[in-house]
Amino acid sequence: MARFHRLRVAAVDRLTDDSVALTLAVPPELREEYRHQPGQHLTLRRVADGEEIRRTYSICSPVPDGEAPATLRVGVRLVEGGAFSTYALKEIDLGDELEVMTPAGRFTLPPAPGLYAAVVGGSGITPVLSIATTLLAREPEARFCLIRSDRTTASTMFLEEVADLKDRHPDRFQLVTALSREEQQAGLPSGRLDRERLASLLPALLPVDRVDGWFLCGPYGLVAGADRALRALGVSRSRIHQEIFHVDSGPAPTAAASAAPAHSTVTARLDGRGGTWPVQSGESLLDTVLRNRPDAPYACKGGVCGTCRAFLVSGEVRMDRNYALESEETEAGYVLACQSHPVTEKVELDFDR
Ligand code: FES
Repeated sequence: MARFHRLRVAAVDRLTDDSVALTLAVPPELREEYRHQPGQHLTLRRVADGEEIRRTYSICSPVPDGEAPATLRVGVRLVEGGAFSTYALKEIDLGDELEVMTPAGRFTLPPAPGLYAAVVGGSGITPVLSIATTLLAREPEARFCLIRSDRTTASTMFLEEVADLKDRHPDRFQLVTALSREEQQAGLPSGRLDRERLASLLPALLPVDRVDGWFLCGPYGLVAGADRALRALGVSRSRIHQEIFHVDSGPAPTAAASAAPAHSTVTARLDGRGGTWPVQSGESLLDTVLRNRPDAPYACKGGVCGTCRAFLVSGEVRMDRNYALESEETEAGYVLACQSHPVTEKVELDFDR
């Protein structure tokens, strides 16, 4: 069960003009709760002017073998007008305490032998840095190819950390950088990494059909383009893992609200306790549950982070949008509570499964 605790900021490192890395100290008694998989994220919570803001940031630090880590490092990039990222870049200081949810997320790679590859854009490097660093340090039979894109060298997050990885594992780590707004002296010509470009680039870089896992992370356009390129190259869906950081404009809710029954209830099980509550017209099932159980897990409320995932025990729902769950998860019966609306009069969700 996801929980919030207050963690102290142990370091604030400026990465670029518009991004920082925050290191959070985890006291010994909480370390097991914050034990994480490489690729997982933390949700940070802040109440400002009576309004609660939550944002999800990926952990960039590696996962050591054995003991749970004493610190966790996350990368934060400034989003224009972003309430939390502006606060993080301009106000958070050494020694501050932040409210931090225990780690979550299924965009993960536990260390295993094999060849792995990632296509990332902008701050999408953050979880992949943890994945690649952990993998190469702990699994001598693993190799990793990182294809990253950004606007310019100056805007690229974790340049030093990625260069270190290359120095430490010159034979097992391959790095390709594409800059969209800067001429490069060596390597790729400038321009965006879109589907067409990836479809010709990837087979020239590595044996696409021998890659055991692909990790795509960044803005929606890049991830969707890379996914289509890989599928066209014959890569099976089960080998492609995706995490989307930004969806520019959300498509309008799909199904008509008129499909909803006049009266409906949701029964939810959360942290071992259940309850049944009426769903108010137009609200998501997450909002119904939150009115009665403020401890229900969520972060983005936008169908992107997956924190509100729940198992649909009975009944039927429609989801407005889903950028977080893989098709295997929806086929297995999982839904995003923040995007779900009842189609049947009774719906039962289990947040503990
Ligand atoms: S809260 Fe992020 S997907 Fe529902």
